[in-house]
Amino acid sequence: MRSSELRGPEISRAEKRSARQGQAYKIQTFPIVASFLNDIAERKSSNGTVAGMLFLKHALGPARRCLYRTQRLLVRTPLFYPQVCADKGCVRWQSGEGGRDWNPRWQHMVAGLAAGTGMVLAFGLYHRQEEQAASEEQLADSAGRGGEAVFPETAAPVGAYPIFTREEVTKHRTLQDGVWVTFGDSVYDITDFVGLHPGGSKIMLAAGGALEPFWAMYAVHNQQHVLELLGEYKVGELSSEDKKKGSGAISDPYASDPPRHPALKINSLKPFNAEPPSEILSENFLTPNAFFFKRNHLPVPEVDPERYRLEISGEGLPKAVSLTLEDLKTKFPKHTVTATLQCAGNRRSEMNKIKQVKGLDWGIAAISNAQWGGVRLREVLEHAGYRHGGAAQHVQFEGLDKDVSGTPYGASIPLRKALSDDGDVLLAYEMNGEELPRDHGFPLRAVVPGTVGARNVKWLGKIIVSAEESKSHWQQNDYKGFSPSVDWDTVDFKSAPAIQELPIQSAITEPRDGALLERSGEQVTVRGYAWSGGGREVVRVDVSLDGGKTWQVATLRSGEDAPPLGQAWAWKLWELSAPFPPEGEQLDIVCKAVDNSYNMQPDSVAPIWNLRGVLSNAWHRVRVSVKKD
Ligand code: MTE
Repeated sequence: MRSSELRGPEISRAEKRSARQGQAYKIQTFPIVASFLNDIAERKSSNGTVAGMLFLKHALGPARRCLYRTQRLLVRTPLFYPQVCADKGCVRWQSGEGGRDWNPRWQHMVAGLAAGTGMVLAFGLYHRQEEQAASEEQLADSAGRGGEAVFPETAAPVGAYPIFTREEVTKHRTLQDGVWVTFGDSVYDITDFVGLHPGGSKIMLAAGGALEPFWAMYAVHNQQHVLELLGEYKVGELSSEDKKKGSGAISDPYASDPPRHPALKINSLKPFNAEPPSEILSENFLTPNAFFFKRNHLPVPEVDPERYRLEISGEGLPKAVSLTLEDLKTKFPKHTVTATLQCAGNRRSEMNKIKQVKGLDWGIAAISNAQWGGVRLREVLEHAGYRHGGAAQHVQFEGLDKDVSGTPYGASIPLRKALSDDGDVLLAYEMNGEELPRDHGFPLRAVVPGTVGARNVKWLGKIIVSAEESKSHWQQNDYKGFSPSVDWDTVDFKSAPAIQELPIQSAITEPRDGALLERSGEQVTVRGYAWSGGGREVVRVDVSLDGGKTWQVATLRSGEDAPPLGQAWAWKLWELSAPFPPEGEQLDIVCKAVDNSYNMQPDSVAPIWNLRGVLSNAWHRVRVSVKKD
């Protein structure tokens, strides 16, 4: 058991406050040791021995911090000597390397050494694994708090830290010089955390400056445990002059995001990620725009359609071309394509049940189907003068949504798909007969039928024909599949291809897991969706009411005429009505689909588990109870 806080009604707020002020309240840095000691303390708590418990905790705090400091000192600084900083009238401890300033708390070091290097190493190992498992996206639950800043709890009282100016902090922007950041009035040395950051090297963008603008963009960070973690890296306070100046007003980058339907199940508010209630999916062959799942990595950009330009350039094009929205609507024939989009992380929550993965905890509804209206990418490239035969292999897309550093969302698809007669890649300005909604890419998005959602770039600003794939994070270091044996210490993103066509998929939308069914209804009705990537048509869905022992074939509902071979871009909805099995109070309902290449879903999640939780397409199972007559 790992516990980081004292709990229980016996402890008054005042006691908690004083414990916190006494720097001995939290026991979290050494989880292995601390959880054991916390356990003891909590057991005492349940016996009502509050005083004893507090004593124990208070005694443990310094020990914990001794060990923690020691670990950091051992890793970082071989030798220390005191340095008087005349400008601030404070004493710092500087490393023998002369590079970084430190307050070593040598008494802690001695105590820590005495406590044993083994524990220190155990901590390091545990801490690292734990951090790797944590996900930037999974932290998203709290994004709903709207990014209000809660300041981290730190291990020492305010006056105990050295004072730094913002200018001094800006000098710490590399791993060699140390990576420092500020948050509120505090200064943190996060050098050791850089390699553990779930969001990768993006953390270096903040080096030497304030975290606030980044946390406003990725509101996912505003969670207690993230703040507690940050608190552990505190090395100083800002000078009173810099405190007064503040870090500058931070405007909420999500303030102009569009309104959304309250029925959506929000996975993260900033950026906005949400799925509809699953029943809605099987109600409609075309998912209404308001309920179409929404997957944004960044704030929704505000695009003025009058000033909008689509820039097209690259290999095989005589010159760069710029098109207005009006050009796109009037110079090219309009085409419509009905296509299902599915996020690579659809059904990730099932992988999380096996072992934690990194990513938003999507249920079964990060998938939706729409009729898209727009122009063919192939025709736009031809209009731009694209000539075959050069080195080009890929078409890169860039969105108009940008992160704090100005880097846009980006992805690419094979040129072959973009140019093929039957690839049906659209630059869409309409969705289900309406103007493309802001959340879905207004005024223009790429729709790449049969291909993972991530390549369907929204708010499309640039198209670049290239010999290379997009260099974007989402093409290179994300949305790739790995063996279950690969973890965050061993993963090599270069070793796996970017996901393009998705595998066969199906899921049960009704009844829901845990539902209570009335036997008096005589028949049980099961509904769901099925879809396969690459234009492969779903030809059959098998449904079992007994966990996979026996199967019945569901009725498929297509909602459109039979598609040409290789162009089945839209899902099929399916339904099975069957008598209740004569006995039993539980039904173990399972579905699996088959496409026209006879691809079938794997029967269980564990063998396809991967650290990023993508491509989750095992047989879908729901367990329901049956009420006796
Ligand atoms: N395009 C841009 N510009 N920015 C994004 O964050 N998200 C991608 C893709 N296109 C994204 C983007 C992902 S991961 C998915 S699954 C789909 O958009 C989701 O499309 P939707 O929000 O219209 O359902």
